[in-house]
Amino acid sequence: MYLSLDEAAEILKKGGIVAIPTETVYGLAGNAFCEIAIAKIFAAKERPFFDPLIVHIAEFGEIENLAATIPKNAKLLAEKFWPGPMTLVLPKKKSVPDLTTGGLSAVAVRMPKKQIAIDIIKLAGFALAAPSANMFQRLSPTKAEHVLEQLGNRIDGIVDGGACEVGVESTVIGFENEMPVIYRPGAITSEMIKEHLDLKTTSHSPLTTADHVSPGLLQKHYSPNTPLYLESLSEVPPNSGLLAFGKLPANSKAFAKILNLSENEDLIEAAANLYGMLHKLDSCRLGGIYATLLPQAGLGNAINDRLIRAAGC
Ligand code: TXA
Ligand code: MG
Repeated sequence: MYLSLDEAAEILKKGGIVAIPTETVYGLAGNAFCEIAIAKIFAAKERPFFDPLIVHIAEFGEIENLAATIPKNAKLLAEKFWPGPMTLVLPKKKSVPDLTTGGLSAVAVRMPKKQIAIDIIKLAGFALAAPSANMFQRLSPTKAEHVLEQLGNRIDGIVDGGACEVGVESTVIGFENEMPVIYRPGAITSEMIKEHLDLKTTSHSPLTTADHVSPGLLQKHYSPNTPLYLESLSEVPPNSGLLAFGKLPANSKAFAKILNLSENEDLIEAAANLYGMLHKLDSCRLGGIYATLLPQAGLGNAINDRLIRAAGC
């Protein structure tokens, strides 16, 4: 099940699907130009075909095979934040299968930072479509064991690259009238984008947009099997878990299990811990998991976005 980089590349060349580490979460990779491989990814995840995949590249030049045009602001963002946790949605070339883009005329492209991911793309010799390597709507994997648990018997293998450093999925950015719009918040924050493009002095403010623009952003997503609640309680039901951030609440003794995203309220540490801790709490046979939202700024936006969707509210 666990593969070397060469073994993974050979399987990918034959149209197989392999879970690979990236700096954000593990991805379930297949040849972005091979419909058979793409269909296998959708089938393994039980993901609906309208939900498009992100295509991963190892060098900027590969974008020529994918995007018909590249807005100036997209180029500026790529120069600054690639390789890294940022995905750009660009008008697609005809050669990109409709299956890869969920029938949309745009393709999402990302250059990951994790060296293992870059090496696998180069060894395979083509761009890799890779959604997060989890069953549809379930928790994203930040360790190889998480992938094994959910998809072990549905895929051709896993490359173990240890824990993912960032821990939440990439920021997805589209362009409307050449201006960036954040479809999914991530580690490249709205503040960083505005700063780099010098948009601070204009009224333009990249916002999360309506779901139809980014069909994958469903209300219920990234969910553990155990119900997750985003409320603080005066009375804690027996056998409850707490996903804390910073100082514990006064009633913390009433919880059967507590994990703290970051005792020092460090958002980077919290993002890196998010899915791993949710996986752990989910395996504790708790009646419910309680979490509170984090400060709504910078990376806090991305973490809260995932918590709200995980709770399905
Ligand atoms: O960090 C990440 O982005 C990870 C790693 C593996 O790279 N991948 C990931 O993929 O999170 P996935 O499939 O779980 O989420 C991709 C989301 C889609 O659900 C959709 O919302 C958006 O990216 N997306 C993809 N293609 C798009 C397109 N053509 N137009 C608009 N949104 C798109
Ligand atoms: Mg996903």
